[in-house]
Amino acid sequence: MSQSTTATPQAPAASHSGSSLVNASRAEGATVGNPLLDDPRISCRSVNVWYDDNHAIQDVTLDIGRNQVIAMIGPSGCGKSTFLRCINRMNDTVEGCRCTGKILLDQLDINSPQVDVVALRAQVGMVFQKPNPFPKSIYDNVIYGPRIHGLVRGRAEEDELVEASLVKAGLWNEVKDRLHQPGTGLSGGQQQRLCIARAIAVSPEVILMDEPCSALDPIATAKVEELIDELRAQFTIVIVTHSMQQAARVSQRTAYFHLGRLVEVGETRKIFTKPGHQLTEDYITGRFG
Ligand SMILES: Nc1ncnc2c1ncn2[C@@H]1O[C@H](COP(=O)(O)OP(=O)(O)OP(=O)(O)O)[C@@H](O)[C@H]1O
Ligand SMILES: [Mg+2]
Repeated sequence: MSQSTTATPQAPAASHSGSSLVNASRAEGATVGNPLLDDPRISCRSVNVWYDDNHAIQDVTLDIGRNQVIAMIGPSGCGKSTFLRCINRMNDTVEGCRCTGKILLDQLDINSPQVDVVALRAQVGMVFQKPNPFPKSIYDNVIYGPRIHGLVRGRAEEDELVEASLVKAGLWNEVKDRLHQPGTGLSGGQQQRLCIARAIAVSPEVILMDEPCSALDPIATAKVEELIDELRAQFTIVIVTHSMQQAARVSQRTAYFHLGRLVEVGETRKIFTKPGHQLTEDYITGRFG
């Protein structure tokens, strides 16, 4: 990622009262709703991302709150995953990708040259669309991160952390008698909860989830959603989803992206009942996307 530029926070766009929608067919102009929060966990200011000439994220300013779930929604290709990957610098590894803007995690400028990216990714964990356990035992999947980050010493501490992480991920009862069997031998939904346990084990502050339920059946999805709701007491969660129902069930705030722009952000209830932008309304009512 290239060095960030300092940006002036945008003033929040005027909020929209009544039923008047911003009737723009294109995603130009300021974000509708209030992208800023008091005392945010993460502040993103004028974030831009290019893949060579493709301007994939365009001047996105957004705060992400503590102990809450923010859902990122929008049509395929609008930049949700790209934006998510800015938050733990996963785009650093993408050839041809250039990012500008400022992202603060609490007071830490995550793009500062002093930041250790490996440590940052422990603070800002990620759960991917497809469960991706390591080809190791269930136990080792969970303890691998804490070991490399020096968070545990000795078998007793390791056992305790493995159990606590699996309990938090809602998986302990299903795996406690098979901890030394391969993680890849679990069902898809169990594997996804194992990946969540693995992310939690290093005590992150933020968990980024990119369509974490898209490969799961409705029962496994319900379990992961329940878990997300419990985890928000302790973590800040950013979830990308194509399911409007899921966004409505798990998030307190929703951000609607369109062609690389943050078109609208607000309380989830409001976004789904009284969106302020025509593009948001078209998307949530299934008119496109
Ligand atoms: N690794 C990459 N290299 C080049 N271009 C990319 C890369 N990843 C994404 N893009 C481009 O950036 C834009 C945004 O893609 P992104 O994957 O962030 O969208 P998305 O909203 O997550 O879509 P989906 O809902 O399909 O996952 C698209 O034009 C895409 O082609
Ligand atoms: Mg994506």
